[in-house]
Amino acid sequence: MTDNTKKSIHGEWSSRFAFILAATGSAVGLGNIWKFPYITGENGGGAFVLVYLLCVVLIGIPIMMAESMLGRRARQSPINAMQTLAEEAKADPNWHYLGWLGVVAGFLILSYYSVIAGWSIAYVFKAFIGSFSGGDAKDMQDLFAEFTGSPLSLTFWHTIFMVTTMSVVARGVQGGLEKSVRFLMPGLFVLLMLLVGYAMTTGSYQRGVDFLFVPDFSKITSNVVLTAMGHAFFTLSLGMGAIMAYGSYLPAGDSIAKTSLLIAGADTAVALLAGIAIFPLVFSNNLAVGSGPGLIFQTLPIAFGNMPGGWIVGILFFVMLVFAALTSAISLIEPAVAWLVENHGCNRKQACIWSGTLVWFLGLGTVFSFNSWANVKFFDKTIFQLLDYLTANLMLPIGGFCIAIFAGWIMSQANSESELELSNPVYYQVWQILVRYVSPAAVFLVFLHVVGVL
Ligand code: TRP
Repeated sequence: MTDNTKKSIHGEWSSRFAFILAATGSAVGLGNIWKFPYITGENGGGAFVLVYLLCVVLIGIPIMMAESMLGRRARQSPINAMQTLAEEAKADPNWHYLGWLGVVAGFLILSYYSVIAGWSIAYVFKAFIGSFSGGDAKDMQDLFAEFTGSPLSLTFWHTIFMVTTMSVVARGVQGGLEKSVRFLMPGLFVLLMLLVGYAMTTGSYQRGVDFLFVPDFSKITSNVVLTAMGHAFFTLSLGMGAIMAYGSYLPAGDSIAKTSLLIAGADTAVALLAGIAIFPLVFSNNLAVGSGPGLIFQTLPIAFGNMPGGWIVGILFFVMLVFAALTSAISLIEPAVAWLVENHGCNRKQACIWSGTLVWFLGLGTVFSFNSWANVKFFDKTIFQLLDYLTANLMLPIGGFCIAIFAGWIMSQANSESELELSNPVYYQVWQILVRYVSPAAVFLVFLHVVGVL
């Protein structure tokens, strides 16, 4: 049975619904609306999307169940959770380094995430002052290039976003998070549907949809597969302890399987809708599908500038994007903050100031990689590209692999079975096969392929 007496010192969600909201808030973010479309464009479309969807089902959902389960059982920050669970299973204490890997990954991701979230805040204001009005593709490309060319502007908006994030995190898990997600998700859905409606009027709707859903297998390389797998982890917030931290605030006795399915379903729906809204615009304006991280900032404003009521739709869209980014950013820093509170006697506010300042500094690397340091490259990648590759393609899959191994092989079967409380023993077996064999083997094989062993 779940240990009902054990509670997290950081508080608890008011209900399972609150956990669903918070975890969905973590999952749905820039990854769905900004990253998914541009990496789909860079990686050739349909075949990439197919591999990504397969990874969500076969690797993402089972690992999401594993992460929530480990968190709820230990009721501590990921670093301490792994330590406690390793002791409980009489396993090697070095497992707590898995928690560390997650904290580092969270810092690195947030450092660039915050810069892109800063772009979104800036675009709220651009929408407001009418910068998109009547604009064509060329105008929007110029607007974006001019904006990202300024280190000062990017630093300014990055700072605003980090300060906002840290002040929300300082208030703790229940402060505001539950409420904001409750309005955010339905709002985002409605706006994306509106944009899909606009995409239908562009004349390139079918072409956009085909690009997303008709796979061209000749586009598949080992790096395309690695990127798709990495994105499955990224978009579901897996592999670094975010969901573990959130799981540690989950009241006992709630179904982890159902919540994981719901979260993965909502997350995937938002990403696909974003893709369906964006690619028709890309084709009807003769833009390059592989234009990179600026893709949504160069396409959607064309829609806002030319559709009826576009002024208000544009403002609302970027406001929602900022909120979606905020609810994700919170989960990227929560493991570190919870650990500082547990082990260093900091209060949440101090923990936020320390970790937030560090992330802010790291973020300057990304700021400059879009202008002054655009030519500074390591392994042929800018600082931003390197951070993205290192975290999404390497650290998260490695973290996820270890989580799967721990949940499938190290934790006792009796404990995982009682913690998951699946209604049917067959479901437990399916989950076990997935975390024991399928997900770790998939990650391992993709890695072998990328380094050229296979
Ligand atoms: N999933 C979020 C997105 O798609 C980003 C995110 C939040 C994340 N927490 C995470 C990614 C933890 C990896 C790990 O925007």
